Amino acid sequence: MSCDDATVEETRIGFGEDAHRLAAGRPLVLGGVAIPEAPRGPLAHSDGDALLHAVTDALLSAWALGDIGAHFPDTDPAFAGADSAALLRRALQVALEGAGNLRPRQASAVVTLDRPKLGPHRAAIAGSLAALLDLPPDRVGLTFKTSEGLAPDHVQARAVVLWG
Ligand code: C5P
Ligand code: MG
Repeated sequence: MSCDDATVEETRIGFGEDAHRLAAGRPLVLGGVAIPEAPRGPLAHSDGDALLHAVTDALLSAWALGDIGAHFPDTDPAFAGADSAALLRRALQVALEGAGNLRPRQASAVVTLDRPKLGPHRAAIAGSLAALLDLPPDRVGLTFKTSEGLAPDHVQARAVVLWG
């Protein structure tokens, strides 16, 4: 197929990031999936799901709609202990309103966490994100990294969402 034959369709891409400090006695939830063996979890106003927050920011960023804090201020008691999946669904709804016939087609994320290993949870987390984004699980790529001990007290997530 030559360039002339190609149908040019608009695409959008959004990038998001989030990090939380880890504290004892807090549950760790990533991408909507509980990680029961985690010794610590995020200190956060909401449930501190860094991966869902990064994906939510990526959804908004693709359409220059600001960020999660602009839509769901963490100073607002209404969002204390907020279910991050509900915030993501709301952000997706807002983004879809101006997206014409585009929708999320692929998500790719990196989670940096020293302990525990997240590999055993990859399929569950990918399935959870895929369900939230209405994507097949093989359209959700997940990379897990340690900080090599440089940031043992935090969990960080970065995410890209492609719209097409
Ligand atoms: O950070 P590092 O490159 O040493 O991680 C090695 C591998 O360990 C990663 O490629 C990933 O497969 C796995 N890993 C994991 N869960 C983490 C961190 C790393 O499964 N929290
Ligand atoms: Mg390495």
